[in-house]
Amino acid sequence: MIEIDRVPTGVPGFDELCEGGLVRNRTYLLSGTSGTGKTNFAFQFLHSGATQYDEPGIFIATEERPSYLRENLSRFGWDMQSLEDEGKLAIIDACSTKIGIPSQERYVDVRPFDMRALLEQVITIQDEIGAKRAVIDSSTSIGFNLQDPARIRIELLKLSTTLEILGLTSLMTCEIVDDDLYSRFGVENFVTDGTILLYNKREDNTRVRSMEIFKMRGSDHKKGIYPYEITSEGIVIYPREEVY
Ligand SMILES: Nc1ncnc2c1ncn2[C@@H]1O[C@H](COP(=O)(O)OP(=O)(O)OP(=O)(O)O)[C@@H](O)[C@H]1O
Ligand SMILES: [Mg+2]
Repeated sequence: MIEIDRVPTGVPGFDELCEGGLVRNRTYLLSGTSGTGKTNFAFQFLHSGATQYDEPGIFIATEERPSYLRENLSRFGWDMQSLEDEGKLAIIDACSTKIGIPSQERYVDVRPFDMRALLEQVITIQDEIGAKRAVIDSSTSIGFNLQDPARIRIELLKLSTTLEILGLTSLMTCEIVDDDLYSRFGVENFVTDGTILLYNKREDNTRVRSMEIFKMRGSDHKKGIYPYEITSEGIVIYPREEVY
């Protein structure tokens, strides 16, 4: 049997749900409705890589401009700029050009509708910082650019496969509009090796946050639905409590 190398996510509680972490060099879909904490979860994964495991990361930001991300995530005590200065994090601004505004960022995706251009940029960064982890936040805006599900499927497969070949373990966020769906266009979960679902369900007058690992190719994982919180230090999952 081939030994499987695990990548700890650094999200408290998550790794014990899946034999110690994500399978190395695989791509995972992180799906959830708006505000469930996808961006937080994804960055927490890069932050722990950069600060605890000597694994630099690449953040492809298609939805929020990097300056906003730095500001928003600083609320959790995460200093993106310092990690960037130390060569442990690179953010690709794949947002500004798309909406037609100038960008002062070091890495800008200037041809936002061209997957090959984006991948070339990832390869360049990879040469510079030797990244081991990547985040695409989000796959949904890439999907909207492409529109046709058949094209979305092939382009996302190209993206996930290239990241895997480059030795990156990756999270792709996915915006869903209904908790009962796993992906936005119905294809994203087929071109990724695992699916993590974040829920924010209404129960009477409150909302309860919960998560599950829906699929993880090549790994055993817990099959329940577990509560999580977004705290001042980020996402915390409670793997010993179940939500029914
Ligand atoms: N300082 C904080 N402490 C606790 N919770 C916070 C804090 N800041 C933000 N949050 C929570 O985090 C949520 C946003 O998380 P995040 O941006 O990761 O969600 P998302 O799933 O990426 O949303 P979107 O689909 O809009 O991109 C907010 O809606 C809020 O509930
Ligand atoms: Mg987000």
